[in-house]
Amino acid sequence: MRAYYYDNLPGDQRLPHDYVPSRPVSKETLDRLNVKYWTIPVEGYETRVDEIAKERGYKNRDMINVSKEGLGEIYEDKIKTFFQEHMHEDEEIRYILSGSGFFDVRESPSDEWIRLAVEPGDLVVIPAGIYHRFTLDEKNQIKALRLFQDEPKWVPHNRSSETDVNPHRVEYLKSIGVSA
Ligand SMILES: [Fe+2]
Repeated sequence: MRAYYYDNLPGDQRLPHDYVPSRPVSKETLDRLNVKYWTIPVEGYETRVDEIAKERGYKNRDMINVSKEGLGEIYEDKIKTFFQEHMHEDEEIRYILSGSGFFDVRESPSDEWIRLAVEPGDLVVIPAGIYHRFTLDEKNQIKALRLFQDEPKWVPHNRSSETDVNPHRVEYLKSIGVSA
């Protein structure tokens, strides 16, 4: 998984939006933001994914397949929805099986976007309370496993002054040593 700062230039969200030259983001920076990831080869992935799921208490999972072909005319609207800046009260865990896409996570306190370019074999944990968004890339196809602890709570809380004081948001900032 490649991580770099998003260039903030206008243009299709599906483009790489990499600075020229690129500004890579280190594993240490992602650790500090509490964003976790593993690379697990897709061939025979079940054993390793099962181990991590067990360790971290992810009891349930399902599979999603998003593609321009599959969604047809609602595709463009759908990906705009994914791209709204939001947070969840739970972790968002994804293991990429095929295709690719970008998770953007907000670095605090800089408020810069960090782009995570995910591809098959990447297992990413987006912590509860971090502002983030997602988009497919120009290949317009991704298939991923979604893991969750109990019941899936996919409620997105869009960024707002109200969400800024959500206890999970406040807790997240505290956990990374940033005051709200
Ligand atoms: Fe999300």
